[in-house]
Amino acid sequence: MPDNDMIVGLDIGTSTVCAVIAEYNDEGMLQVSGMGMVPSEGLRKGVVVNIEAAQKVIAYAVELAEQDAGRTVHDVYTSVTGGNVEGLNSRGVVAVSGRGREVTSLDIKRVIEAARAIAVPMDREILHVIPQNYMVDDKVGIRNPLDMIGVRLEADVHIITGSIAATQNIIKCINRSGYKVNEISLEALAGGESVLTEDEKELGTLFLDIGGGTTDIVVYYEGAPHYTGSLPVGGDQVTSDMSIVMEQSLDMSEKIKLNQGCCWEPLVDPRAEVLLAGLGGRPPRNFPEIEICRIIQSRMAEIFLLIRKQLDQKGYRNHLGGGIVISGGGGMLQGTAELASDIFNRPVRIGIPSGIKDLPASCRTPVYSTAVGLVLAAQNEEMSFSAETDTAGTGSVRSMWKSVKDWFSNFI
Ligand SMILES: Nc1ncnc2c1ncn2[C@@H]1O[C@H](COP(=O)(O)OP(=O)(O)OP(=O)(O)O)[C@@H](O)[C@H]1O
Ligand SMILES: [Mg+2]
Repeated sequence: MPDNDMIVGLDIGTSTVCAVIAEYNDEGMLQVSGMGMVPSEGLRKGVVVNIEAAQKVIAYAVELAEQDAGRTVHDVYTSVTGGNVEGLNSRGVVAVSGRGREVTSLDIKRVIEAARAIAVPMDREILHVIPQNYMVDDKVGIRNPLDMIGVRLEADVHIITGSIAATQNIIKCINRSGYKVNEISLEALAGGESVLTEDEKELGTLFLDIGGGTTDIVVYYEGAPHYTGSLPVGGDQVTSDMSIVMEQSLDMSEKIKLNQGCCWEPLVDPRAEVLLAGLGGRPPRNFPEIEICRIIQSRMAEIFLLIRKQLDQKGYRNHLGGGIVISGGGGMLQGTAELASDIFNRPVRIGIPSGIKDLPASCRTPVYSTAVGLVLAAQNEEMSFSAETDTAGTGSVRSMWKSVKDWFSNFI
């Protein structure tokens, strides 16, 4: 049975594993009581490649959060990412069956079922079906058609599919660490829950989660996702480029990136230099920071240009009235907002998680966006269950979670 007085969000990334424990206080408000963050192992580009290594870091991150909260975790909400995840839009149509031609909750369920009837390859499964809007006869753009009168009900939905094997490997690692998985979400959708405002989702916003191994893309407008995608590049490629050009180890390059890294030339002092260790007995040497910036900027620009091309192909760049929000650890790189704003010609902000009362300062960083978003999405789902009213769904992650309980309740 899930713990009903606490929610645990577990973000298993290529670079970092983050666990957040949130508990309901006496007033029924969620508060974060424990956090754990450890460097990740056993994943490549968001996908598990070494179960044993991944299982160990998962267990460690959750244990840290358990110690922090003084609680024992039994079950978690988690997410998947990577190139195996795909999004597409679909439409369903049904005849309104209710008495007096009033749309009932059953009609809404039927039309969503009709919209999700797409051909899914054997090795993939549907993770989310998110209603965008409904039409009743010729009335378009309806958010909740319940009780409206009409003959024909249509629904536009965004469907996200993922690889069954990739999802099951994540579940297996968590199960082997001793925890059950309540639900599984697309990572960037969870991130959007904790970082984006309702206005941004409504006006049209590009949400980017720049992780270590992947950059995840979600375009929201009119309150719901319309486009999801993922690039197999992230902050790790930046570090690897630096390491090749500067002839330094990956660890040293990562350190320099975190301390002096910047991807927007105008922010860098052209006289500043970094002292690099000499390899193989060679003496240390100075390397201009502006040169480091150029290495980083060209890789980050490439990532943004690839995303811009995808958006242009689909025509979504004209729907970004709310601008661009960047989260994930890669968003902490200095100059990211400036570079993205230059490339997309839209206002850009770096998204940090919010939405939970008194969120600890250490949690208010882009690295925690997904874990906090998983908690928020789970809370929304619990609220919608207890209210038992939201049959229409409104475009948030809740009610679209992939229910995985059946698969693995006996998995441990
Ligand atoms: N302060 C910082 N400045 C620059 N880059 C940073 C900073 N902090 C973290 N990063 C970079 O962010 C990346 C890790 O981000 P994050 O923890 O969100 O990735 P992840 O979720 O583990 O990966 P993925 O989502 O791709 O599986 C690394 O490449 C790291 O170098
Ligand atoms: Mg991530």
